[in-house]
Amino acid sequence: MKPKILVTREVFDETLAYLAEHCEVESNQTDKPFDAAALAQHLKDKDGVICCLTDRIDAALLTGCGGLKVVANIAVGYNNIEVPACTSRGIMVTNTPGVLDDSTADLAWTLMLATARRLTEAEAYIRAGNWKGWHLKQMLGVDVHHATLGVIGMGRIGQQIVRRAAGFKMRVLYHNRNRLPADVERWLNAEYATKEQLLAQADFVILQVPYSPATHHYIGAAELKQMKPSAILINSTRGGVVDDAALIDALKNGTIRAAGLDVYENEPRLNPGFLELKNVVLAPHVGSSTELTRRAMAMTAAKNAVAVLTGGEPPNLVNPDARKKT
Ligand code: DGY
Repeated sequence: MKPKILVTREVFDETLAYLAEHCEVESNQTDKPFDAAALAQHLKDKDGVICCLTDRIDAALLTGCGGLKVVANIAVGYNNIEVPACTSRGIMVTNTPGVLDDSTADLAWTLMLATARRLTEAEAYIRAGNWKGWHLKQMLGVDVHHATLGVIGMGRIGQQIVRRAAGFKMRVLYHNRNRLPADVERWLNAEYATKEQLLAQADFVILQVPYSPATHHYIGAAELKQMKPSAILINSTRGGVVDDAALIDALKNGTIRAAGLDVYENEPRLNPGFLELKNVVLAPHVGSSTELTRRAMAMTAAKNAVAVLTGGEPPNLVNPDARKKT
């Protein structure tokens, strides 16, 4: 008998074909997200699940899933999963690090350049038929080249963001829980700064810290006041790391110049305040969304799940302590 696996959202054909070689697969190819009750119903007889950040996997859900052995998230972030609840039940949790670093770094840069050069505002202006011709002071933006970049969170993605700064001749400051080894700092050409120093000096602040209770509202009204009035904030990591209401106030009042956002508190329900502002560039959580990267993420999740269900070692295990319970 093959192990049973649920795929909670639409994935690629090759992911399903790979899973079908090893498992009996139930997949939600309609892509309509399951609510908690439906997810519980579909999961109750399953050995594994391939899920996404739109699925909440918590203690209440797990109560009805006695046979579950693996929760394979198609994302590097896993704040949608109550990991301790999985660990205590011997359920392995996996994620998809590595395969999305470059694409996510590219999107952070896309937001930074688009915000600095007011690209979405400029495009809306043209589409509305308002462009009557060239003039010297039209849509003045700010330079990214030679500016100071501040990256908070220097994991894999943060480091890829910094590597791209060399071509723009930027000074780079970074802040991280742990200071990087001196040779890595030299290789990245990045100077360590305290959070306060970075906020006070950076022209562009990019957030790459994962979301957790410890990073909830890591940037709020007080931190926004510490930034330069000319500074631009980019959040391409997770909603909740920024206090969205405080950011909207700061953008309205000129506390900072602009923001570029890919993630939001309570997404996809956006704080309507953002929609009234011209000095914010908005993207719908597409940091890793390129054809190749999303395919690689789905396949990585599938390989993690199959490894657990066939008695192997999942390459991206988040909670090694779960093994002690099996
Ligand atoms: C991640 O991997 O955490 C991304 O946000 C998913 O797109």
